[in-house]
Amino acid sequence: MTATTAARRTAIENDAMARAVELAETGPLAGGNPRVGCVLLDSDGRVLAVGRHRGAGTVHAEADALARVPPESRGALVGGTAVVTLEPCHHTGRTPPCSHALHAAGLARVVHAVADPDPRAAGGAQWLRAAGVDVSTAEEAGLDPVVVARARDVAASWATAVRRGRPWLVAKTATTLDGRVAATYGTSRWITSTESRAHAHTVRADVDAIVVGTGTLLADDPALTARTASGPADHQPLRVVVGERPVPPDARIRRGPGEWLHRPTRDLAAVLAELHDRGARHVLLEGGPTVLTAALQVGLVDELHAYVAPVLLGAGPGAVGDLGIRTIADALRWRTVRTQRLGDDLFLALRPEGES
Ligand SMILES: NC(=O)c1ccc[n+]([C@@H]2O[C@H](COP(=O)([O-])OP(=O)(O)OC[C@H]3O[C@@H](n4cnc5c(N)ncnc54)[C@H](OP(=O)(O)O)[C@@H]3O)[C@@H](O)[C@H]2O)c1
Repeated sequence: MTATTAARRTAIENDAMARAVELAETGPLAGGNPRVGCVLLDSDGRVLAVGRHRGAGTVHAEADALARVPPESRGALVGGTAVVTLEPCHHTGRTPPCSHALHAAGLARVVHAVADPDPRAAGGAQWLRAAGVDVSTAEEAGLDPVVVARARDVAASWATAVRRGRPWLVAKTATTLDGRVAATYGTSRWITSTESRAHAHTVRADVDAIVVGTGTLLADDPALTARTASGPADHQPLRVVVGERPVPPDARIRRGPGEWLHRPTRDLAAVLAELHDRGARHVLLEGGPTVLTAALQVGLVDELHAYVAPVLLGAGPGAVGDLGIRTIADALRWRTVRTQRLGDDLFLALRPEGES
């Protein structure tokens, strides 16, 4: 291959990976399956079809893309390239292996960004290579590190949950400018803007479960359902209360839509393990400060959603309690992965520094 041809191929595959990431980002976080996007190119780099995975029980991104190739273009798959955010699967689950489908279609090359961490599904790249397909990781293909990082990001929560055997935990805080989550008398409604609260409901509608401590349940009597402007969201997370005190008989959480459960324990790791066993891969911790502090102390928080309102209280509980940190050198530091203006508030999505 000449240098010009190689550079052209890299540019085409880079654009295809960026498109695959965009497709993957539209997939659901809830349901226990990865978000995946796929772009199929002919041997000259023209896009034949794109596909994405829409969640558990639906076809994989590769199969979706293959099904969308117009009948008159199917021949052009021979010698073409599949660009996929996740390594093609190699197991027969609810759908047949994508490794076989790509090979059978005649594709000559596969570029994937993230290796499949699930031992039941991994091995697709190896099998395709053995079958004579030219398989490259995104790095090997020389794709832009920014695009590769976005592809990793889109799979991060699912891949981490699979590797660790516990759900990806997103902790939410809604604070004043001075970091308080409630006023001295316990009221916290509402610190944040209507836009922030609407955003928080879209996050609820995209997770498998929401966890709160009994303190929040007893102080706020939250319903913890996911709501849109026109009523309950289609997907309702499992609502979970953790703590030894009982849930009052008239608590709003007892009403629907969606299921709820109470675990009379303070062992958050055990509750997360149980949720993982029930298929949850993406869990939202909605407070309050006591359970958030406990989760941070044992390193359970994978992502932080901070809604910061331009409000000052000057007194009242802070978002996080004592973590035993006594010097700046020991501070827990976070990396900002996304920011958004929500009305007058600022939303920050953060990940622990040093982790993907
Ligand atoms: N602005 C916000 O983002 C936000 C969010 C949530 C809550 N809030 C506010 O926060 C206040 C409630 O705070 P909170 O800290 O009491 O709520 P919390 O963290 O939801 O609940 C604390 C309680 O949960 C139980 N618990 C469960 N796991 C625990 C663990 N690992 N370690 C210790 N305790 C555990 C304990 O009760 P048991 O004795 O029952 O075991 C504990 O007292 C309210 O004013 C509420 O409005 C604000």
